[in-house]
Amino acid sequence: MEKFQVKFMPDQQVIEVEQGTSLLKAASQAGIFIKSSCGGKGTCGACKVTVISGEAKSERTGNLSPEQLSRGVRLSCHTFVEGDLTVEVPPESRLQAHQVLLEDANAALLTETSKDLLTYYGYHPLARKVNIRCSEPTLTDNAGDWTRLSIELKRVLQSDKPLTIPLSVLQTLPETLRQAHWDLSVILTDLESGYTVLHVEPANDRPCYGLAIDVGTTTVVVYLVDLDSGEIVDKQGSYNKQAQFGDDVISRIVYAVDSTENMAEIQKAVVDTVNVLIEGILERQSLTSQNIASAVIAGNTTMSQLFLGINPRYIRLEPYIPTVNSTPAVSAREIGLRLLPEALIHTYPSVASYVGGDIVSGALATDMANSDEIILFIDIGTNGEIVLGNKDWLVSCACSAGPCFEGGGILFGMRAMPGAIERVDIDPESLDVKLKVVGKIAPVGICGSGLVDCLAKLRKAGIIDRAGNFQLEHPSQSARIRATEDDKEFVLAWAHQAGGDKDIVISENDVKNLIRAKGAIYAGIRSLLQTVALEIDMIERIVIGGGFGNYLNVHDSVEIGLLPDLPQEKFEFIGNSSVKGARLALLSQKAWNEAADLARKMTYIELSIGTTFMDEFVSALFLPHTDLSLFPSVEGTF
Ligand code: FES
Repeated sequence: MEKFQVKFMPDQQVIEVEQGTSLLKAASQAGIFIKSSCGGKGTCGACKVTVISGEAKSERTGNLSPEQLSRGVRLSCHTFVEGDLTVEVPPESRLQAHQVLLEDANAALLTETSKDLLTYYGYHPLARKVNIRCSEPTLTDNAGDWTRLSIELKRVLQSDKPLTIPLSVLQTLPETLRQAHWDLSVILTDLESGYTVLHVEPANDRPCYGLAIDVGTTTVVVYLVDLDSGEIVDKQGSYNKQAQFGDDVISRIVYAVDSTENMAEIQKAVVDTVNVLIEGILERQSLTSQNIASAVIAGNTTMSQLFLGINPRYIRLEPYIPTVNSTPAVSAREIGLRLLPEALIHTYPSVASYVGGDIVSGALATDMANSDEIILFIDIGTNGEIVLGNKDWLVSCACSAGPCFEGGGILFGMRAMPGAIERVDIDPESLDVKLKVVGKIAPVGICGSGLVDCLAKLRKAGIIDRAGNFQLEHPSQSARIRATEDDKEFVLAWAHQAGGDKDIVISENDVKNLIRAKGAIYAGIRSLLQTVALEIDMIERIVIGGGFGNYLNVHDSVEIGLLPDLPQEKFEFIGNSSVKGARLALLSQKAWNEAADLARKMTYIELSIGTTFMDEFVSALFLPHTDLSLFPSVEGTF
């Protein structure tokens, strides 16, 4: 097949691809990642590019306007290379390798909690390093190298657990022992099932590290943890590169199961994401992959399966069955992660297709399985997982809230990063707007907490009604409320304030999306309560997790009906609970064993069975709810 050159601007990146390759794919091959919310179905419009010159064939143009088409704007997923091309990828179509906000608003408190849990479970990392000295062989003491090493190791470890060594380490062992003059540092796994030698090197005092990794559908976060002290030495986060195959787990499954190549590609995307983060950390800390002995990964069921290259097809088909709930540890070499090649990667066990290891990890970090109080743990993210219970029982569900609160599916939505509007104030009379922007710079978009705030304020100012309909006849006659060709919108920041050429707006469509997302979460909470015949006020503590949880305003969240109307002091934020649980397991064998019990103990409630969830959902499609008596603190504001 004929090959052509595609030049991507403004990067000036040139790549040669076969005729008929989609521009989305060509860009990815050139290392430019384009958003593809619908997974390349041609329906979302997120993958827009401009064909500046050359020949390309478009099969679908989605909702592009005639004006856009005449300017050369195309959907990159449905535009195919037919000759040499020059293509511009605008900033809004790119998956930015942005910095994920990693600091918790209440970091001090959370570190406290995790330390307490570590004391409770006992400090016993899944891998460690020991320094030993072996006796040199002589003509009269001619035991083999591995025998000498294992005898000495067993003596130092004082344990009769089995001790093994993989072939790859054996292969270089003789030279290493002699170069080190029999003075050695040995890195090994320390699991209930036994020890495995991961690496042998000349004796040194270098610390040995592990990684706690949260593989989120949208964001991936890696913590570098010192296995001797338990300290978090460094953190790094970025977008999950799998986002080029769709925003949600369903579109990624659809993409992955289409062909073996797709499966390999999507697995590589997430492994690459983690590797880039690891490399960044290693470089900053002047370390090499040889220093990293272990990793614990927490992700939802689809993410875990895709990470390990396990076919996820049946996760999305009724009756929704994952391939495994508990995966054996695999070596870094097997999946291509940049750790010690023989280091073991432990994947958090999951409960069901839509309640995965990230939630088990989070539940472990909340310590709810040891609590007398009834705790509600909510992960406010794309999948909207909820766990309810205490030390005697635990039930869980997933209410698929969608990516709204992470900025997905919202015109100017973005993650909480510099330039994101995080607080909104609207004067109810004049409709003047005051904004608080992350990083105190000109606003470029609006993040989850800003959206929650915005929704509450739009309703309070009478800009929208309780169903989210825009009131164009608002008494203020403000120019901020306006109708466009196909929607209505409210201007949050004028173009000149935003330092760009576009006004930052929230549209009626955005509002409806947000109402659906908050409605799904609230309906999930109510449905779960119903299955155990409890009332909302019987919840003693609400723990909110997810990157978004850090910035959430409880008052606003109650006002829009996202969270139950309970006293402020019952709410607690845990931030990225998934990565916290991963760290806990990394540092404590007992915690890791408990995670397996926890996953088994959680009963999964399938919300698609019966009508409870649907009925609850429909009732929650109002601000704050159809039944105002559920929100007594808000009721008075009407
Ligand atoms: S329209 Fe191209 S990815 Fe959605």
